[in-house]
Amino acid sequence: MLRLVDISKSFDGLKVLDSVSLEIKKEKLGILGPNGAGKTTLFNIISGFLKPDKGKILFNEKNLVGKKPSELAKLGIIRTFQIMKVFENMTVEENLLTISDDLSVLRDFDLEAKKKELARNLSQGELRRLSIAMAFAKKPRLLLLDEPFSGLSKREAEKIMGIIKEIGGNGTSIAIVEHRMRELFNVVDRVVVLNSGKLIFDGSPENVLEDKAVREAYFGNKYVEG
Ligand SMILES: Nc1ncnc2c1ncn2[C@@H]1O[C@H](COP(=O)(O)OP(=O)(O)O)[C@@H](O)[C@H]1O
Ligand SMILES: [Mg+2]
Repeated sequence: MLRLVDISKSFDGLKVLDSVSLEIKKEKLGILGPNGAGKTTLFNIISGFLKPDKGKILFNEKNLVGKKPSELAKLGIIRTFQIMKVFENMTVEENLLTISDDLSVLRDFDLEAKKKELARNLSQGELRRLSIAMAFAKKPRLLLLDEPFSGLSKREAEKIMGIIKEIGGNGTSIAIVEHRMRELFNVVDRVVVLNSGKLIFDGSPENVLEDKAVREAYFGNKYVEG
């Protein structure tokens, strides 16, 4: 699907990504790592918002480095930001119609009953569901979700995770950066861990917390549940 080869990036001499190689298949991939590990930078590079200093991004064996975010979006590589853009003075349905005539995400995201509601009247959880629904309405081939549950209650986070688990399987690759490990591990097929710009783990969610390097680097050798 998408293959990163030796991606490096520095800011003001500080190496933020150090020769990261990673293949993203048709799967749900969880990306973990402490603050400042380079996760958001990695997403910015994959989605074309930043250019790597070195390395390749191969998509169907074509190198995507240098392409603009809009060109990558056309190829189906969609990135959502921590705060995703919803038009507050439009209804839920109108917001979705800015993306697609296909409103099936209304049902998937349990927003059917709210479709005539102005976005500004939604609860925080509903608003987040709408913004993620808008990303899915673009029918991405690779969706990059950067901390999609920040600021949400555990219940809302679990609800959205459940939705992503259900609907993510139709040929879409999804990469999720998220600190809530329990919720994340429930959904993803595979986990990678970044630490100081280097990939230190690539494997199954069942094994990540037992990994010595992960425990030392990420958890300070203590078991921490996010
Ligand atoms: N545009 C930028 N200019 C300078 N430094 C940056 C920029 N973006 C990120 N950084 C630095 O790069 C490091 C990694 O940041 P980031 O990718 O946001 O980490 P994460 O998302 O894993 O918390 C941090 O030290 C951050 O301060
Ligand atoms: Mg980040």
